Amino acid sequence: MRIENPKVVAALPELGVQWKPGTSLAALTSLAIGGTTDLLRITKHDSIPALLSLLDTEGVPYKFLGGGSNLLVGDGELPWVVLQLVSSQPDIAVEGNFAQVEAAADLGRTVTFCAKHDLGGMEGLIGVPGTVGGALRMNAGAYGMQIGSYVRQVKLYRAAARKIETLEGDQISFEYRHTSFAPDDMMLAVKLELPSKAYPEILKGIRICNEKRRASQPLGQKSAGCIFKNPPGASAGRMIDDLGLKGLNVGDARVSDRHANFFVNAGKASAKDMLALIAEVRERVQKSFGILLEHEVVVWNG
Ligand code: EPU
Repeated sequence: MRIENPKVVAALPELGVQWKPGTSLAALTSLAIGGTTDLLRITKHDSIPALLSLLDTEGVPYKFLGGGSNLLVGDGELPWVVLQLVSSQPDIAVEGNFAQVEAAADLGRTVTFCAKHDLGGMEGLIGVPGTVGGALRMNAGAYGMQIGSYVRQVKLYRAAARKIETLEGDQISFEYRHTSFAPDDMMLAVKLELPSKAYPEILKGIRICNEKRRASQPLGQKSAGCIFKNPPGASAGRMIDDLGLKGLNVGDARVSDRHANFFVNAGKASAKDMLALIAEVRERVQKSFGILLEHEVVVWNG
């Protein structure tokens, strides 16, 4: 979608918004799939309520993009603009056992920054691509931990109230790959409370998680991490593997040979290819196991 409304165009600079017309979302997502739209990069949190109210009034639909690592975007010209936060520098500050982190901060860098300040707990998240805001929204986790356990406060734009609010950790529910945030809430910053741990000790944990991940996941390939959530007590990857579906493809969209719950873009896959592959695998799992797998990947299709 192209912004042509002169009122919107004129307001963007004073709202601290960088306008990038005709941006390819394939370049902003780890799957390297997605069509084109206008990207609005937000440099001032305070201007978000005014910006969104302007877009609403002027009838410009929008979506919030984090790090694009758990996202499948549709093909072609997209019918909404995309908003993305630009982090200010520094985007992480540590005081005692607390880390104050901007939502746009890189998750892996946050884990290592905290580790260097002798704050541990998040070792399992090393190697999970994306931003802290994205991890927060979906309660990212791995190797027995989840980010939600360490959240003490979240600053966010609440779409329903149309204002920036601060929530205490106990006002938010964090479940397996799910949180109580509304889909249109926009994460802005988080305060984490992390256990004290000596840096070399944390590094050991990080190395172990890195090794496990390297051994079981297709890290060098274009993917969105796991496509499906694990059903209670089972592994979607193992079920797909048991059906012999590793390597199954639709065009260049392919079930990874390494981990069957990772679907990779092996070349020039389209969203259409990837969605067809997801539907096919879901159907086969349902037929054989009687389980309807739930998407973990977020789909923006139209
Ligand atoms: N397995 C297979 N074949 C496969 C994949 C897995 O047989 O193709 C077997 C493994 O051998 C193992 C079991 O299934 O016995 C579980 O596999 P794994 O340890 O890889 O865990 P997972 O349940 O497949 C989950 C998360 C991952 C996270 C790992 C490690 C989900 C959907 N997946 O995978 O998270 O990294 O545990 O904690 O919760 C993600 O969410 O995007 C993600 C990658």
